[in-house]
Amino acid sequence: MDSKLQFARTKNPQLLISEAVKAIPPSGIREFFDIVYSMPDCISLGVGEPDFITPWRIAEMGMYAIKDGYTHYTPNRGLPELCDLISTELEKTTGTRYSPSEEIIVTMGVSQGLDIALRSIVNPGDEVIIPQPCYVSYGANVTLLGGKPIYIPTTAGEEFKLNIDRLRAAITRRTKAILLNYPSNPTGTTLPKSLLEDIATLAEKYNFIIISDEIYSSLCYDAKHWSIISIPAIKDRVIYLNGFSKSHAMTGWRLGYVAAPKYLIDMMLKIHQYTALCASSIAQYAALEALKNSHKDVEKMVNEYRKRRNYIVNRFRSIGLPCLMPEGAFYVFPDVSPTGLDGRKFALELLRTQKVAVVPGDVFGECGKNHIRCSYATSMENINEAMKRIEIFCSERIK
Ligand SMILES: Cc1ncc(COP(=O)(O)O)c(C=O)c1O
Repeated sequence: MDSKLQFARTKNPQLLISEAVKAIPPSGIREFFDIVYSMPDCISLGVGEPDFITPWRIAEMGMYAIKDGYTHYTPNRGLPELCDLISTELEKTTGTRYSPSEEIIVTMGVSQGLDIALRSIVNPGDEVIIPQPCYVSYGANVTLLGGKPIYIPTTAGEEFKLNIDRLRAAITRRTKAILLNYPSNPTGTTLPKSLLEDIATLAEKYNFIIISDEIYSSLCYDAKHWSIISIPAIKDRVIYLNGFSKSHAMTGWRLGYVAAPKYLIDMMLKIHQYTALCASSIAQYAALEALKNSHKDVEKMVNEYRKRRNYIVNRFRSIGLPCLMPEGAFYVFPDVSPTGLDGRKFALELLRTQKVAVVPGDVFGECGKNHIRCSYATSMENINEAMKRIEIFCSERIK
């Protein structure tokens, strides 16, 4: 027998799992929605994706791509024509130019963009600051790399806007990046230009990267979205993430993009080349149509979301639950403490007694524990019925 193979080792294959994977919890949303799927007559305000189907002109372009045989690998970075259109769109909306051939990568959704962004900068032990409440994937992505998520809480009293003093206090020698998401999932809040400028100043002073996930940037209801990449002085330290999932109702197509300075894109491209090769060719052809001819389709969806947002916020307020008016995305994040319940108990009891599914706020961080997240990416009819049931549920509890 080969002597090298004679070391004693357990025979249990389950002990071979990576420590990093063991360190991350299963998604709190998934856990909750396993219950929901077993209740067919339940109304869900839990989903985080548009109820609209992909605009036909975009879907049709994807079908033509299949029919005409555009079903091969594309260049790693993405179709040059798509990178051109993304560059033009960014310049139009933010004033900042990204070279289509050197500063953009088309990815499999923002999810993969986030993965390659973090992998390109995080070493084990590095800290990434994340304002909470936040999208459930952020901390897990950092932990998987051996990094340390440093959460900074925000409160409803501050409209869930990042507090610059709390940010300053969280910065250490190991701070590698801050991860921003405005408009935010789950609160729908955005940050004013002045606050983004303050964050930029700190990033320069303490030399860290800003990763900005702006996946909801097209879904703003009161004012146009203002992006941190509009600050030219810090272009060299910002990784911008966006995609088609929310803006164009294309979650299943899995398409997004990263824009960043060349030195970062070069690193991300190495990871992308080895782990993904390229994003789906079919989705990329469809996205050409999305960027060329679909602005009106997006506008229509935004107008519908705005109507639903106004309605649902007013209903929560009239029921007696404090609810901020979100500036973007398609979520409201009301405070349920007037019922005497925290967000988790509220969500479980509501589901059990009224068959309405909402997401407990603690899924997005401890500071969200008195809240629930309700998505208004569902029909007015569903929202109306869900709110009737929530009203009954609350009337028995709010004295
Ligand atoms: C803030 C945020 N970022 C990223 C994603 C994932 O986006 P994609 O479908 O482009 O991977 C989501 C999905 O819910 C999200 O809410």
